[in-house]
Order: sequence, then structure tokens, then C-alpha cells
Amino acid sequence: MSKPFPPSPYLSDNYAPISMECDAFDLPVTGELPRALRGTLYRNGPNPQYAPRDANYHWFIGDGMVHAFHIEDGRVRYRNRWVRTNKFRLERAAGQALFGSWGNPATTDPAVAGQAGGAANTNILWHGGRLLALEEAHLPVELDRETLATRGNVDYAGKLPRAMTAHPKLDPVTGEMLFFAYSADGPFTPALDYGVVDRTGQLQQIERFEAPFPSMVHDFMATRNYVLFPILPVTGSMERATRGEPAYAWEPAKGAHIGIMPRQGGAAKMRWFRGEACYVFHVMNAWESGDKIVADVMQYETAPLFNPDAGSARARLCRWTFDMAGDSDTFTRAYLDDMAGEFPRFDERFATLPYRHGYFACREDGSRTVGDYNGLAHVDLERVTRSVHRLPEGDVASEPVFVPRAADSAEGDGWLLATVYRGAEKRSDLVVYEAGAIADGPVATVQLSHRVPFGFHGNWLGAD
Ligand SMILES: [Fe+2]
Repeated sequence: MSKPFPPSPYLSDNYAPISMECDAFDLPVTGELPRALRGTLYRNGPNPQYAPRDANYHWFIGDGMVHAFHIEDGRVRYRNRWVRTNKFRLERAAGQALFGSWGNPATTDPAVAGQAGGAANTNILWHGGRLLALEEAHLPVELDRETLATRGNVDYAGKLPRAMTAHPKLDPVTGEMLFFAYSADGPFTPALDYGVVDRTGQLQQIERFEAPFPSMVHDFMATRNYVLFPILPVTGSMERATRGEPAYAWEPAKGAHIGIMPRQGGAAKMRWFRGEACYVFHVMNAWESGDKIVADVMQYETAPLFNPDAGSARARLCRWTFDMAGDSDTFTRAYLDDMAGEFPRFDERFATLPYRHGYFACREDGSRTVGDYNGLAHVDLERVTRSVHRLPEGDVASEPVFVPRAADSAEGDGWLLATVYRGAEKRSDLVVYEAGAIADGPVATVQLSHRVPFGFHGNWLGAD
């Protein structure tokens, strides 16, 4: 008999886990699903299997659960499955949680000391013939694209040492997957790994470099010729951890350091740019314009976690510009929008390239927590206009995912898909918008009878 979940903000309302895995066929649809929309939306998020062992449970560390919506001929079927990580399997066998929060050895059952405790809960994407569930401190986990059965960890023939970011970049020109991993020399070390998996799923390149200090690096940027690593001052410290304090802390005096490395040429050619402290969880896109590198990011001026002032933090879409022809180590920043938002996405056929259309979950009154994003925004960066679909009171939007109408459609010609938590009904819908007309509301709404707990990221895989 397992224990009930304790009171906690991250175990309540729509952060609370659901306890079942299920299949649902022919979900009710209002509106009209486009006939050309054929494929599967996969989404991943934390859904702890058992009550935590200590008081430090956080949304970021719950066991990954994947939710898949398969759309074909105007009909939708749904399937959800936990990712059977090493942690999940050991805990299921024991009938209770075994791993302490954040891998804390003091609260981990000695029977699993030193074992991998990854949750595979952050992102899910298709690359190199594999469906990969990702979480930034552990190896990717492969799932079956139809059944969502877990196939096991992916270490690329032993070439991937320890971990991969949950935000690799898929290069639409070469088909490569570019990735990094932080704390590459062990917990809270300043080393990062950078690597490349080719379009066939073979790891072709991996190299290690030192950042100015150990930090939590959630995302990075790639252009045609460069990769950019934002080393921002949410710092990691083993000393703090051993004193029993949170290992991560906001240290704004350290400033922002952006390492820019040629994709060909390696870490020896890394160039570091410096600026005022900020934090960025998520990048929209980056590209080159002449001698300039431009990156659009969701920038917080103060860290939204591990920071006493976290409550005032809100992210806004901000453009960073780096002059590669100059000899300055500074860069410029300009906000593109005042709207608070997170989970930026775009038409990713234009990843690493100049682009025009971006989308994100937003909140018009400036609140920032995930449970607060009550709208979806579309920014046209060429016309400098923004349109918003505001959800009914109490409803919450997930990250929006863009799906092109056809492989050769113009940029932004397609649909935007998101899940919406219906606060009053305590269940979720899948919503489908015309991406160019989100203010008109969804063209189709697919009803689930249960909740999809607040999660992180997802991706579309078109039907063969
Ligand atoms: Fe993320």
C-alpha cells in the first residue's frame, strides 16, 4: 500500500499527478479538425509515481509521463504512459519512492545509492529514428512511437558519457541534432560537453569545455555556423549542498557570460561575451545576419527560482545581438514584447535561420508561474505585431507547438496545438488553432475526460 501524497504546491491542483495510464479512442471534438493534420503530438511532464521521501519535492523532479494525441482523418486517439526509467522500475518494485528529492543522498534509500535517478520528464522528440524522452541531468530514454513502451536508455554506442540537455537543436538543413550537457565533470562542475548526432542517429562529435562557473544551463542556441552557450548566474555549489543548503543559488554579481563557438573549429575557438545578470530558461531561435549573431530568448531580469526575489521574476521576449566582426566582449539586448510569457516556439523548419513568426504561452497581467499562463500569443517579428487568444477565466495553456500545413508551406502557414487545463472542470482539452489567426480561437477542441498535469515540452511527429 503506497502512501498518500502530502500537501505541497507542486502536488496540488493541476500540478498533482494522475494515477492511471490509459488509452482513449475517438475523443469528442468540437469544431473541425483539419483533414491535412495527420500525426501525433507528444507531450512530456512530471507525474510522480509515489509520495516523495522528503520535503524538497519540486515540479522539476517528478517521474516523466508522456501524453500522445494521434490525429488522423479528423479523429483523435490518446494514450498516456509513464517513462519506465531506472528510478521508476526500482520504485514500482518497492512500492514506494526510493530516491531523495534532487538526488539528495541523505534522503535516498541506501539500497539505491549511486544508481541513476533520472526522471525523463522534460521533453520528447523524434530524431535519428528514435523517440527520445529527455531530462537534462541523465541519458535520453527511447520510447516506442506507437505504444509508448520504454525501450531503454540511449548512450549512442557508449559515446554519450552521462547526460543530454532536454533542449537539443534539430538542424533542418543537415538533419543533425546538436546538444550539450552541463556539470559534465560531475555535479556542480563548470565543464560542459557539446555534441552532434547525425541524421541517422550516430553520435559523431563530442567535446568538453570549461565555463566561467558552474551554473544551471537549461537551453542553448544554434545558428548555421555557431553554437551559443548562456552561462547565467544560477550557480551550482557542492559546498552549499554539503552544508544542507540548496545547491543552486542566484548570484547576480557574477553576470551573464555567453560562449560562442564555431560549429566547425571547436572549443579552442570559443569566444566569451559578457553582460548584466539575467536568466533564460528558453530560447526561441538564433541566426546569423552578416557579421552579427542574433538570438531571441525569454529573458528574466532576476532568476525565477533559487532567489528570494523570484516572485517578481517574469520572462519577456528579448533579442540579443553579438557583433562577431568587432572586438568588444559586450552584446546588445532589446525587448521585442512587454507581454510576460514562457515556452517560446516557432516554425522550426526555420531553426538556425532568419524567421518571422513566434508563439508562446502568455499572461497579460504579468504573472509568471506556469499555472498562470492564461493565453497564447503569436508575434509577427517582421510587422512587429502581436495577437493573443485569452482563455476563459481559470483555464491554463501549455506550450504551443507549431505544425506546418505541408512540408513546403510558407513560414507560419499551419496550425498551433496546445493542451488547455479547464480549471472549472478539472480536466484538459487539446486545442488546435490556425497559426495565423489565433485570436479567433481554436478551430477544433478535443475533449479529454481527465487532466493532463502541468508539463513542460512536446513535439509533433507527422504521419509517414
Ligand atoms: Fe525547458
